[in-house]
Amino acid sequence: METKIINTHSHINMLKEYSTEAAIKELEQENIIAIVPASSPTDIFEVDDVIKKSKNLYGYVGVFPEEAREFTDKTLLDMENIIKNNNKIVGIGEIGLDYYWDKTFKDKQKEVFIKQIHLANELNLPLNIHSREAHFDTLEILKKYNKNSVAIMHCFSGSLEFAKECIKNGIYISLGGVVTFKNAKNAKDVAANIPIEYLLLETDDPYLTPVPFRGKENRPSYVKYVAQEIANLRNCPITEVAQKTTENALKIFPQLLD
Ligand code: NI
Repeated sequence: METKIINTHSHINMLKEYSTEAAIKELEQENIIAIVPASSPTDIFEVDDVIKKSKNLYGYVGVFPEEAREFTDKTLLDMENIIKNNNKIVGIGEIGLDYYWDKTFKDKQKEVFIKQIHLANELNLPLNIHSREAHFDTLEILKKYNKNSVAIMHCFSGSLEFAKECIKNGIYISLGGVVTFKNAKNAKDVAANIPIEYLLLETDDPYLTPVPFRGKENRPSYVKYVAQEIANLRNCPITEVAQKTTENALKIFPQLLD
């Protein structure tokens, strides 16, 4: 497609069935920019490396809730160092709360989430947020602790009502492959009805592969199927979804303009 698409959440360094090099080539050929989130204290270094391989890649550094126990003071220093030395790091993520897998260390998750919000605020960087079965607490923490960073709810999984509540607080809604699933009533409802000014696209590859490739490994370039489904749901051309979501992303991440 001629219109540029920005995929705001792609773990391109975690692909297994497809090589990262081939995935990069696809992005370059298809005019897609991808931002690669980090999930653990070691993954931040992988993100730092992989995004240097293409002009179409940028990154976030952060530790996600399932890895909260591994987060130390050294992790915070490592993150700061990477940010200082790599100007393609454009945000902090993915960070947040996840009560789906394990509810036994909620306090630790919250503590690590808040520490990373502070870092983002200090450096005035956007936040890429992971929230699963923890919507209320995630929003409460953002309202209470986030002073000046733009926040994005990655792979948004809440209701339309919750999406509106987020938007009221200036939070962006990012949708991925789930929106293409037949039974994803919430995601379709959100995609069709939120103001397009708050919408962003992503894949969360290698997970959550969109239809028509559901069941296979996801790829960063499949963001176009997400865009197409949203266009169908909103009764508009895919170019409009691509253009508007790219505009939104460039507002949040002006470094991507190059
Ligand atoms: Ni992710």
